[in-house]
Amino acid sequence: MKILVDVKSCVGHARCNKVAPELFPLDDNGYNVTASEVEIPAGDEALAQRAVRACPERVMRIAED
Ligand code: F3S
Repeated sequence: MKILVDVKSCVGHARCNKVAPELFPLDDNGYNVTASEVEIPAGDEALAQRAVRACPERVMRIAED
């Protein structure tokens, strides 16, 4: 599974990081600094989906294969 991240649209809600801190790191100001594409490790798919849904700005989305 791959997640696409539009980091320019992040306004710092930090909800993604609360759900999945290892997958979605923040900078010192609380903004998502994840790469624009993240390959989700096997087993972390459900966690990643919850983090994607947690963002009110819809900064992240799941890439369809
Ligand atoms: Fe940003 Fe959304 Fe996370 S606004 S910090 S990507 S919850």
